[in-house]
Amino acid sequence: MNEQRLIFTDSQKKLLSLLADGKFHSGTVLANTLNISRSAIWKQIESLSSEYGVEIIAVSGKGYKLNRPLELLSETQIKSGLSQQSAELLSNLEIYQQIDSTNRYLVERAQTATASGLVCFAESQTAGKGRRGRQWVSPFGSNIYLSILWRFQNDPASISGLSLAVGVAVIRALRELRLIDIGLKWPNDIYWQQKKLGGILIEVSGEAGGSCSAVIGLGLNLYLPEKETASITQPWVDLEQIRTASPLKDWQSCSRNHISSLLLNHLLPVIAHFETDTLQQYLSEWRSYDVMLEKEVSIYIGNQVIDGIVKGINDDGMLLLQNNAGELKTYASGEVSFRASL
Ligand code: BTN
Repeated sequence: MNEQRLIFTDSQKKLLSLLADGKFHSGTVLANTLNISRSAIWKQIESLSSEYGVEIIAVSGKGYKLNRPLELLSETQIKSGLSQQSAELLSNLEIYQQIDSTNRYLVERAQTATASGLVCFAESQTAGKGRRGRQWVSPFGSNIYLSILWRFQNDPASISGLSLAVGVAVIRALRELRLIDIGLKWPNDIYWQQKKLGGILIEVSGEAGGSCSAVIGLGLNLYLPEKETASITQPWVDLEQIRTASPLKDWQSCSRNHISSLLLNHLLPVIAHFETDTLQQYLSEWRSYDVMLEKEVSIYIGNQVIDGIVKGINDDGMLLLQNNAGELKTYASGEVSFRASL
C-alpha cells in the first residue's frame, strides 16, 4: 500500500477554522479575512471537499457553511489536557488531517529507532484497519482514530494480555465522561447496549526470546454520518446517539480534544506499566465491564461456529464458553456475536 499522509495548507486550516462554527460565511468576508480572492476561496473549498471529504454547503447569496459544526484536533489542546504522568510518557504527538492508517504508519515507524510513546491521531483514514481484516470506517473530523507505539523489553508472549488491559483503560476514560452502560465485549470491543462504540487493534512485532514493540490502535465513534455506515456489518453506535438517548447527563466535556487527552491519560500509564503490572491487575475490573456474561453467543473460528453461553474470562484472559452439551471450553481467539434470544 502507498503511504499517504496529508496535512492542511495554512489557508485550508484558516478557512476551516472560520467555517468550524457551522454557520454561513459569505465568500467576500472569507476572501477578505484570508486576504485571497473569492475564486481562490472557492478552490480551497473544492480541495477540502475532494481531498478530505469535508461536506461544505454553498448557497448563493448566503455563502458557505459546514453541514455541522467541527472541532479540529489540536496538539496544543490535547497536550494541555494531559496529566503530568502522561505528558512524561508521551515522546511525540503527531496529528494528520488524512492518513491511510495510523496503525500502519506506526508499525512502519516501529521499524526505525523511534522511541516508545509516539502517538498519532488522524482526522480521517483512507484505509483504517479493523480486526479480522475488516475496514474501519474513518470519515473526516468526527471520530477518534488514535495509535500509540510502545516498546517492551520482553517477547510478544509477555504482553499477550495487553489487549484486555487496554480495553479497561478506554472504559476508565469513558467513565470519566459519566457514560453509563458502557462495557467490554471480549476481548476488547467497546460496547453500549449491545452496539459497538469503539474497537481496538493491537499489532505486535518481535521474536520469541527477544524484545517486542506494539502499536495500539483505537477507533472511537463520536459521530458517524449515516451515509458512511453502509459497509459496517456489526451493530454500531456513536457518542452522539448515546447523548441523545441520555439527555440528562452532563455532556459539557464531550469535546474531541478533551476526549483525546482523557484517553491518553488512561492509555499511556496502562501500556507503559503493563510489563510490570501484568494482566492480573486488570482481571477483576475487566470482569466488572463484561457485557457478554451469561449471554447466549456464537463464536466463529475459521469456518466453525460454536453456540454457547458466556461464563466470563479465565485468569489468562481467555473466553469461557459453555457449549450446548454443557461443557466449559476456553477460547484464545475468535469472533463472538450475540445471539438474538428466541
Ligand atoms: C476493531 O475492528 O474493532 C478494531 C478497530 C481499530 C480501529 C483503529 S482507528 C485507529 C487505528 N488505525 C487503524 O487503522 N486502526 C485502528
